[in-house]
Amino acid sequence: MISRLRRSRNTIIFGGIALWGLFLIGCVSVNRAVLAPPNIPGATFVGDKDCALCHDDVTDHFGSASHAHLALSDPKLGTTGCESCHGPGSIHSKDGGGKHNIVNPKESPAACFACHTDKRAEFSLPNSHPVMAGKVGCVDCHDVHGDDLGHGPAKLTQINETCTSCHTAQKGPFVYEHGGTKEGCVSCHSPHGSINQKMLVARDSNLCLQCHLETPINHGNINANAIGNQSNAHTNRTRQGTCWSAGCHEAVHGSNSNYHLRR
Ligand code: HEC
Ligand code: HEC
Ligand code: HEC
Ligand code: HEC
Ligand code: HEC
Ligand code: HEC
Ligand code: HEC
Repeated sequence: MISRLRRSRNTIIFGGIALWGLFLIGCVSVNRAVLAPPNIPGATFVGDKDCALCHDDVTDHFGSASHAHLALSDPKLGTTGCESCHGPGSIHSKDGGGKHNIVNPKESPAACFACHTDKRAEFSLPNSHPVMAGKVGCVDCHDVHGDDLGHGPAKLTQINETCTSCHTAQKGPFVYEHGGTKEGCVSCHSPHGSINQKMLVARDSNLCLQCHLETPINHGNINANAIGNQSNAHTNRTRQGTCWSAGCHEAVHGSNSNYHLRR
């Protein structure tokens, strides 16, 4: 299998707000984050319990959310996970709600980049989802208040469904399914972006060999072992291009006509 989650444990650097300095102490599972919650002039942090007064639909499910890891305790306020994305809520709360006194990150990924700095770089790669252009948003693929796609293999079905909700051509069902697609779109595509065209995780036949060295296909024509030991007609073909170009296995997502996945 391929490693799906490429997470690293990096140092956390906190923003200048003194209150957030307090949280560092209890903060053990947080990684690769630069915590800089959005600023709202004149407002202060009030804590999740305040938000729960009016938004219990959100707070009730938040416990299982990935971002609940951010809900670190402050002796006076309790947890303040909500405000890590929405900014300090005292004015919003006092006014009984409203739109311009609280940050809604849906409109822009800036609130997410504040902590996920590496994602800004991923979405700036030459082949990436047009998040910077505002055509696709983080929330199109991530349920920020709930269980998240980022969990990896356990959520593969959910990931594929998310992708095919926009990319209907790859959805199928196909008469001849490709086992690779069943293993997930992210086996072959970096969901955020990649230096390779079509956001592929590898630019050449290694894309396919990541599985087909271990999962040889036994119908003879594409036998990865044969490719590996150069003893088959594949040697010439693989010199001409990738496995999926030049009239070969073009129907990588699945095929309705040819079980060798040619078209
Ligand atoms: C990781 C960042 C993040 C955290 C943490 C977060 N939110 Fe949100 N919230 C968002 C984003 C992004 C949207 C816009 C989602 C959309 O419209 O699809 C949103 C939308 C909302 C909305 C308006 C739309 C709706 O769903 O009703 C409310 C209310 C809300 N959040 C409350 C909360 C509360 C309360 C908490 C804490 C329990 C919280 N949020 C924690 C990112 C976050
Ligand atoms: C006294 C009730 C109340 C409290 C407390 C409250 N909200 Fe709200 N909130 C509302 C109402 C009402 C709206 C809908 C405003 C509208 O649609 O005009 C709202 C809207 C929002 C939105 C959506 C704004 C948008 O641009 O669409 C977010 C995000 C939000 N609240 C987050 C929070 C957070 C985070 C807290 C805790 C810090 C909080 N709220 C506390 C009543 C409250
Ligand atoms: C205040 C900092 C902060 C903000 C703002 C923030 N995140 Fe996160 N996010 C984190 C941290 C820290 C983790 C790692 C949690 C963990 O290791 O379980 C995380 C994890 C994630 C994950 C992976 C979830 C998983 O299950 O591993 C996704 C996806 C994600 N965030 C998306 C978003 C999106 C989208 C936004 C903007 C709406 C956002 N984040 C805003 C700090 C933040
Ligand atoms: C086109 C869909 C899509 C969009 C848009 C998207 N993501 Fe993701 N993201 C995914 C998928 C799928 C995964 C899981 C990857 C895996 O399992 O290999 C993921 C994983 C993550 C993770 C955890 C693993 C990691 O790479 O660190 C974080 C954090 C994250 N996304 C943040 C964001 C942020 C922030 C945005 C917006 C700026 C965003 N994502 C936009 C699909 C998307
Ligand atoms: C909200 C809709 C949406 C979702 C969800 C979505 N995409 Fe996309 N995707 C787009 C858009 C828009 C483009 C850019 C198309 C363009 O530029 O012509 C794109 C481009 C792509 C491309 C490059 C296509 C090309 O011609 O270069 C690939 C590959 C891709 N997406 C795969 C995925 C995968 C894998 C997922 C799930 C993790 C996913 N997409 C989820 C909207 C979406
Ligand atoms: C086995 C590897 C593999 C898997 C799994 C896979 N793809 Fe692809 N995908 C490719 C290759 C290779 C290309 C480039 C094809 C080309 O350039 O002719 C591609 C191209 C694309 C494109 C661009 C299509 C175009 O017309 O240019 C989209 C969109 C896409 N894939 C979405 C998806 C989605 C959604 C899934 C999951 C349902 C998925 N892919 C699963 C290998 C894969
Ligand atoms: C994530 C793993 C994975 C990746 C990556 C992958 N495959 Fe597959 N592929 C499979 C599995 C599983 C099968 C089914 C094997 C079986 O039935 O014995 C399969 C079967 C095939 C078949 C035979 C289909 C049939 O019905 O006879 C072809 C052809 C094929 N793959 C081509 C490719 C090409 C070309 C690539 C690269 C673009 C690729 N595969 C990448 C997992 C993968």
